Amino acid sequence: MNLTDDKVSILDTLDEHIPQNAWYKDVAVIGLGFVGLPLALSFSLRGCNVIGVDINKRLVEEINDGITAHKESFYDIPITDILKREIERKHFYATANISDVLDDCHNFIITVGIPIVNGEHEMEYLESACTELGKGLKQGDLVIVRSTVVPGTTEEVIKPLLESASGLKAGDDFHLAYSSERIAEGRAFQEFADMPILVAGVDEPSTTRAKELLGIVCKAEVIPASSIKVVETAKVFENVQRDVNIAMVQEFARFTEALGIDIFEVVNLANTHKRVKLLAPGPGVGGYCLPNAYYYLKPKAEQMGISLSLLELARKENDAVPQIIVDMLERALADNGKHLNGADIAVLGLAMKDYSNDARISPPLEIVNILLQKQANVKAFDPAVDGDYPYKVDDINKCISDVDAVMILAKQHEIDSSINKVLSEVPEGAVVLDTRDIRSFAEPALLSRVRYVCI
Ligand SMILES: NC(=O)c1ccc[n+]([C@@H]2O[C@H](COP(=O)([O-])OP(=O)(O)OC[C@H]3O[C@@H](n4cnc5c(N)ncnc54)[C@H](O)[C@@H]3O)[C@@H](O)[C@H]2O)c1
Repeated sequence: MNLTDDKVSILDTLDEHIPQNAWYKDVAVIGLGFVGLPLALSFSLRGCNVIGVDINKRLVEEINDGITAHKESFYDIPITDILKREIERKHFYATANISDVLDDCHNFIITVGIPIVNGEHEMEYLESACTELGKGLKQGDLVIVRSTVVPGTTEEVIKPLLESASGLKAGDDFHLAYSSERIAEGRAFQEFADMPILVAGVDEPSTTRAKELLGIVCKAEVIPASSIKVVETAKVFENVQRDVNIAMVQEFARFTEALGIDIFEVVNLANTHKRVKLLAPGPGVGGYCLPNAYYYLKPKAEQMGISLSLLELARKENDAVPQIIVDMLERALADNGKHLNGADIAVLGLAMKDYSNDARISPPLEIVNILLQKQANVKAFDPAVDGDYPYKVDDINKCISDVDAVMILAKQHEIDSSINKVLSEVPEGAVVLDTRDIRSFAEPALLSRVRYVCI
């Protein structure tokens, strides 16, 4: 562990020295992914005894060895240092076996996701987590669901599963609440602490208990809502509005390209209006949250006979962006007398968004796949994204020389700080297609060396 004394004292100040006999001393977090691991550690840092549960045995072993690929940090302290410290002081460990925790733990937070596969939501992970948890649920226990769900899921699916597996009744025998998760990857610890969150329970005591437990980590307002459905729906709306906003800005980008003006400048200037908040266009919408949001509303809307045509269209528009970006590249290469087939392309950034290690549903990966289908030669660099991609190189220098084009698809600090090197080392006149507006890191004189194209 590389913790200096000043970092140790920062972490020490977070510990609230919760007494051993407090009902909220022990917490189990079920699902140790992008949300679950930093959430579990946030409770541990505040002084809870935390057990993390995940069905992925390898992940559990790595976590118990102090290893995680996540890029989170808190007060500039990397998550791996936080993880090792919490394991060492015996405030946290992980297990793949939920039955290990059921006897002694009384507070359970579920962060298992609902994947979308071919437009359908797959409930099996969440359902099996609830069934396994239900088997050991006890009188007085508290269950808080933080997964993003199809509105209605907590009361229509999770509650019956917990009740039938436990033989207990939510409200009468155990507390059940829903609290949506709002963090952005890369800022998880900070946002767990300072982002207001919503909560609602199956009854008043469930809401009150959940609010109290969540308040150990959330130092912003924990806002009670009138029902669980309100919180579930607000969460999906929060995500879907970003999806629609980005689809709109993509359409703006096509307009500004044709008009010969810069979309990023337009967005920045429009956002000086106090009631305007345009998002940035980019190479498409990725990750676990935004592309899935529409598909969490769709089944419920169909059941109720409600049209979501605007949201459906936005989703389709966003799905189409990677192909649009490749078409732009193809046109820019053609202006240089080149074809995509056989062209050497450097791709900078594979993550689904800037400064992330998450490549789930990543538009950059989709762009690379289209390029490969079109017989382009691709070398890609992203120091944050793990994974075995045959075209990935571990050094930016291995992909930028002798290329016909460079595509900037996700910012990473090493990519930002290398932009001047990239611009000076790529062949004169090569196409540089920037979907992330990293020009602010470049020397203006270097931009004129290349055919610089912004989306
Ligand atoms: N990633 C984000 O930034 C973010 C932000 C807000 C909300 N959310 C929501 O939070 C939830 C979790 O997202 P995530 O990104 O952490 O997902 P993730 O895929 O990174 O993590 C989920 C974890 O749950 C584990 N799991 C699956 N089934 C299990 C079971 N039966 N028992 C125990 N563990 C099980 C998986 O192995 C995985 O490690 C999702 O509903 C997501 O929509 C995510």
